[in-house]
Amino acid sequence: MEKIIVLTGAGISAESGLKTFRDSDGLWEGYNIEDVATPQAWQRDPVLVQNFYNERRKSVIEAEPNAAHFALARLQEKFNVTIITQNIDDLHERAGSNDVLHLHGLITRSRSSIDPKLTYPIEGWELRMDEKCELGSPLRPHVVWFGEDVPMISKAAQLCTTADLFILVGTSLAVYPAAGLVDYVPFDAPKYIVDPNIPTVGSTNNLYKIPEKATTGVVKLANELMA
Ligand code: APR
Repeated sequence: MEKIIVLTGAGISAESGLKTFRDSDGLWEGYNIEDVATPQAWQRDPVLVQNFYNERRKSVIEAEPNAAHFALARLQEKFNVTIITQNIDDLHERAGSNDVLHLHGLITRSRSSIDPKLTYPIEGWELRMDEKCELGSPLRPHVVWFGEDVPMISKAAQLCTTADLFILVGTSLAVYPAAGLVDYVPFDAPKYIVDPNIPTVGSTNNLYKIPEKATTGVVKLANELMA
């Protein structure tokens, strides 16, 4: 079976009602990223950070996967598909994709604030300040903040080297190390980019640009690949 690697970003969930990071005036839901998505922010004002992610979690739970998530899941009928996502929502899984690597964590889980390997499911949308991990430290959202390591990056890079075909959807490629993953895709592998605002990538060999929204561009591409 041919191996398809898909790298997705916030743009694939935009039409599910979840906002992207860089499409509006540098603010993220009205916050400066540094105030809510850094280890320093958690040290300074954990309640603010917790509330911020609780609100985001509520939005994720209320959102539904869109046609692009479903189209990628359908590719599994014919291909060996791995999705590497920068998104912290679970919309790929809810659309039926069964091999999803979350580079930046998953908002529906909590993690120990002293041991990143200890993660837990969250009941409902609210993670409370008094909830503790099995070591007794407070639980924080299971998301990778700016300035933190991205533990899954080497696995993701290795996966990219195995791609017979690569699809990039809805990411500005502004954030490293995720943005560097494209460079691991074999030179000759076809690479498709679906984004109304096509980002710049290093290798332009066998590159096909689809300057459309995810729900039209990914659906068309998936239909072609499945034909
Ligand atoms: N369909 C497809 N792409 C879209 C759509 C859509 N309907 N709407 C917007 N886009 C594209 C934009 O053109 C842009 O290229 O989605 C991309 C969103 O870019 P960013 O907001 O930078 O999101 P992303 O690339 O996922 O950000 C990477 O930055 O803040 C961190 O950790 C966070 O994982 C995130 C990382």
